[in-house]
Amino acid sequence: MALAQIGVTGLAVMGRNLARNFARNGYTVAVHNRSPEKMHSLIEEHGSEGDFVGSESLEDFVASLEKPRKIVIMVQAGKATDAVIDSLVPLVDKGDIIVDAGNAHYPDTRRREADLAEKGVHFVGSGVSGGEEGALLGPSIMPGGPAESYKSLGPILEKISAKVDGVPCCTHVGPDGAGHFVKMVHNGIEYADMQLIAEAYDMLRAGLNLSPKEIGEIFEDWNKGDLESFLIEITAEVLKQTDAKTGKPLVDVIKDEAGQKGTGRWTVQSALDLGVPVTGIAEATFARAISSQVAQREAAREVLAGSAGDFHIGNREGFIEDVRVALYASKVVAYAQGFDQIERASEEFGWNIDRGAMARIWRGGCIIRARFLNRITEAYERNPELPSLLVDPYFTDAVADGISGWRRVVAQAALAGVPAPAFSSSLSYYDSLRAERLPAALIQGQRDFFGAHTYKRVDMDGTFHTLWSGDRTEVEA
Ligand code: 6PG
Repeated sequence: MALAQIGVTGLAVMGRNLARNFARNGYTVAVHNRSPEKMHSLIEEHGSEGDFVGSESLEDFVASLEKPRKIVIMVQAGKATDAVIDSLVPLVDKGDIIVDAGNAHYPDTRRREADLAEKGVHFVGSGVSGGEEGALLGPSIMPGGPAESYKSLGPILEKISAKVDGVPCCTHVGPDGAGHFVKMVHNGIEYADMQLIAEAYDMLRAGLNLSPKEIGEIFEDWNKGDLESFLIEITAEVLKQTDAKTGKPLVDVIKDEAGQKGTGRWTVQSALDLGVPVTGIAEATFARAISSQVAQREAAREVLAGSAGDFHIGNREGFIEDVRVALYASKVVAYAQGFDQIERASEEFGWNIDRGAMARIWRGGCIIRARFLNRITEAYERNPELPSLLVDPYFTDAVADGISGWRRVVAQAALAGVPAPAFSSSLSYYDSLRAERLPAALIQGQRDFFGAHTYKRVDMDGTFHTLWSGDRTEVEA
């Protein structure tokens, strides 16, 4: 029996499509699924695409792989992943590689990698982005785990990944949980990107009373410029879609309650622990939560004052252009924050992640793929130690060009009573970053007043406390 170079266990759509991608790229692929029917149907339906070695038992599946074995697990994150790992451990040998290609939470990946390393087994937590189509045609792949395992695993993953200018959208991200961390931040940025697009749509609709189809055409036009991206492209398609049942725009018959599987939430939780402000990602995550607070919204709708007012739009084209530049500037902020979080985590966990390389592998295959990521790759090539994407000359100029429109749109939305949490928080982040003095000085005074938490002075070294309940003299703490 031909020994397989790579194996996939877990043949739901993502696992199935990954297995097909490996086979289409010339690898002999071992395939297994807890219920064998999915393995049999995969081979029956797609056996002509390449060499599959199907096994009904996990033992046969492992035995059908050449060493060092490379086994990709594609099952639900959490307990199901742990169960598959526990079943595999007795069957594999030192030096074999187990890859978790699901959306696992990076602390779980760090734990699993440490446990398996003790047994001499390599564990690679890998982000895989691009959905079902990406898995089949070429995803962006973000493998973590030991650098040593990448020597044999990397070439296979790079071969099946998306390519941009002939460059694979796959690279070794860093050790242990680095790959799943970067995938998590990718999803957080995805949330922010989607929220910003949704707010732009909402403003255009409320401000110009345009139909979803007309707004779809505007997005289609924007997709020819700096905003070119997969998310802008699909937004145009969703907005132009008519509901067959009612003849109405599909977006008007979809309930306005957004779901979330959890990766955006994890991103925000991690950012809070790391002390990194990811305001765009956080507002996007909270916006999904607010949209799902149905009872609270119904109660509020009845009594909260503030009927949607007028956007006071001077001219249509000017307003559309303001929304476009505000969307672009807010997007720069969201990506800058996401890359800050990657850098902070890299320092915290000793991962030595190359942010330019992350931007490079996100240029294709993944959900946030965009022309914009070429600019980010170039920014980090100019300065790998960039303190913030916002201070890269290209982005400094790009945002400066749009700052007036950005401010107008945020102000108009506020005056019109149209919520723009991601647009407005991004503008406030931008202004906080560039402010000469922040009101944090007053907060330090308040904290010292009620908790004697002390403060520092601008004009001398040291730490101080004012005797607020006494004669209010200042003492050195
Ligand atoms: C990807 C996607 C994917 C994610 C879906 C749903 O990179 O292919 O990000 O990993 O699971 O987008 O995520 P939410 O339910 O959290 O929106």
